[in-house]
Amino acid sequence: MSGHRLSVVGVTGAVGQVMLECLAQRNFPVDELYPLASSRSAGKKLTFAGREYTIQDLDKHEFKKGEIVLSSAGASVTRTFRDRAINAGAIIVDNTSAYRMEEGVPLVIPEVNGDQVANHSGLIANPNCCAAILTVALWPLYKLSRIKRLVISTYQSASGAGAAAMAELESQCGEVLEGKEVEPKVFPHPIAFNLFSHNADIEPNGYNGEENKVVAETRKIFNDPDLAIAITCVRVPVLRSHSEAVNIEFEDEVSVEQACEAIRSAPGVRLVDDREKNYFPMPIDSNGIDDVLVGRIRTDISRNDGRGLEIFISGDQLRKGAALNAVQIAEKVVQMPIYESVEG
Ligand SMILES: NC(=O)c1ccc[n+]([C@@H]2O[C@H](COP(=O)([O-])OP(=O)(O)OC[C@H]3O[C@@H](n4cnc5c(N)ncnc54)[C@H](OP(=O)(O)O)[C@@H]3O)[C@@H](O)[C@H]2O)c1
Repeated sequence: MSGHRLSVVGVTGAVGQVMLECLAQRNFPVDELYPLASSRSAGKKLTFAGREYTIQDLDKHEFKKGEIVLSSAGASVTRTFRDRAINAGAIIVDNTSAYRMEEGVPLVIPEVNGDQVANHSGLIANPNCCAAILTVALWPLYKLSRIKRLVISTYQSASGAGAAAMAELESQCGEVLEGKEVEPKVFPHPIAFNLFSHNADIEPNGYNGEENKVVAETRKIFNDPDLAIAITCVRVPVLRSHSEAVNIEFEDEVSVEQACEAIRSAPGVRLVDDREKNYFPMPIDSNGIDDVLVGRIRTDISRNDGRGLEIFISGDQLRKGAALNAVQIAEKVVQMPIYESVEG
């Protein structure tokens, strides 16, 4: 495969930085790299694959035919450049919520519905971080028996809200330990030594925006609009990696052994389930790795029909929940026969 023209929009951000890491680690063939951010960062330098690059202003960038655009600068930013990029023949892999639920836009987890990449019209959406981690973990179980209903509680790290939120958790921890009053700036409440209902706005149904995204996106990824989902999203004082406790109701009976075997043999997930050592998925272990950790698999004792399981998952939301998944999608795009690269 020849190299590709690739731009990273939001390159200075928490996701953008991990995008570069994933591209380098996976040896994604890059001929020309365009690190893009706002005018605030234009002119700053960064290093990628041993070469120094100058960050450029997204607004001044000229997209080209066949260019792959890995985008993570917020939904409003994607809306400003989407048409400009697509009209130039570029293909956007977008990490924001801007177009995820738009009809005709594939919302892709390669391990689940990678074939959807072929149906794009210039933009492929990368799912919400919690939905990404959830669906890659549930898919091997869904294949054992259709899932009818999920009840989910999330434990979401500070980095899910970006680089400034990570810095706020770090500095607040120091301030609290020094006995100082903390003054939240990024989050609405103190994050150090605290937790709170996810900071996304509450919507008319009483759920917050994050919760409603996970519900809608999980249904779209599984192509199952009837999947019932109840969810509570919570922000916790963890720097990186989201965790989720999930109660699953299946259509048919599913045993713990079947579930463990399915997780063991599926891509993108790793079974961490040692009852003797009381060792189960933790952010400290999922941090920085590609696989989503799945464990605490047990039969739901509140029912007697064998159709319920409880599981706990932990995944690096900056990798599988964002950057890694986007790079995996880009790898699929460039493998498609109709893709025209820089040379095409
Ligand atoms: N963090 C996660 O775990 C995660 C997971 C999945 C999806 N996402 C989504 O990815 C996006 C970025 O998240 P993040 O956590 O990386 O945020 P972040 O750390 O705050 O970074 C934001 C990035 O966007 C750039 N940017 C902001 N305004 C811009 C503009 N007008 N033009 C061009 N670039 C602009 C910033 O550049 P400057 O440095 O120049 O300001 C920075 O590079 C969000 O839509 C978020 O919802 C995040």
